[in-house]
Amino acid sequence: MSSQSVAAAGHTGPPKYSPQELERERRATLASPRRSYGVAARALFATMDLLYGRTRSLAKFKVLEIVARVPYQAWEQVAYIALTHRYSRTHLARRIFDRVVESRAQQDNEQWHLLILHELIDERNLRDSLVRHRLIPQLLAFVYYQLSVALYIVRPAWSYRLNADFEDHAEHEYALFVEENAWLAVVAYDGQFAEEYGRYASLGELFTQISLDERHHKNESLDKMAQPRFT
Ligand SMILES: [Fe+2]
Ligand SMILES: [Fe+2]
Repeated sequence: MSSQSVAAAGHTGPPKYSPQELERERRATLASPRRSYGVAARALFATMDLLYGRTRSLAKFKVLEIVARVPYQAWEQVAYIALTHRYSRTHLARRIFDRVVESRAQQDNEQWHLLILHELIDERNLRDSLVRHRLIPQLLAFVYYQLSVALYIVRPAWSYRLNADFEDHAEHEYALFVEENAWLAVVAYDGQFAEEYGRYASLGELFTQISLDERHHKNESLDKMAQPRFT
């Protein structure tokens, strides 16, 4: 899609996969090496392991999704500020607005992930403590937001790189979660958000689709790293 058509056409979000494609792509994720994560990403993952344990769980993924939307919010905010200063340069303003539209679509996609995880946790009456599962994730998200803005202002590629690391980690973690939890294969997803996000014959397929959304987000950030600012 050309940069001029994003805002006009709307951003459709990551592609959806058939059950066969999901299984094939999950195997591809498991077989692929992880990115070489930077210092900030490694610090974030280590903090999450310390606070929520190394075991992959619904509760830990919910924290991950609270943090995941933050860079997209940061980029949207910075792009709007840039628009305020550069709106008179029509072509540049259009390109900046395309970034806003793309950031919003990515935030929306992460929002569905968060809502679905909350729903699955809620249905199972899993413990959701105020401090560990609500306040600390908000604090992590606040710090991550400030870091994303600061990196983006200094050098956008640094912010995109941090996000690519975060998304690569999420892609692999979800794929491993499916691999490690056989029960996911025998529970279907037809919940409150099925209308918007999709119905799945198993939670394994649902989490594989989420993993591939994260791969898509990663690739979008890697593409942006290679581009000059606001093009
Ligand atoms: Fe996500
Ligand atoms: Fe993501």
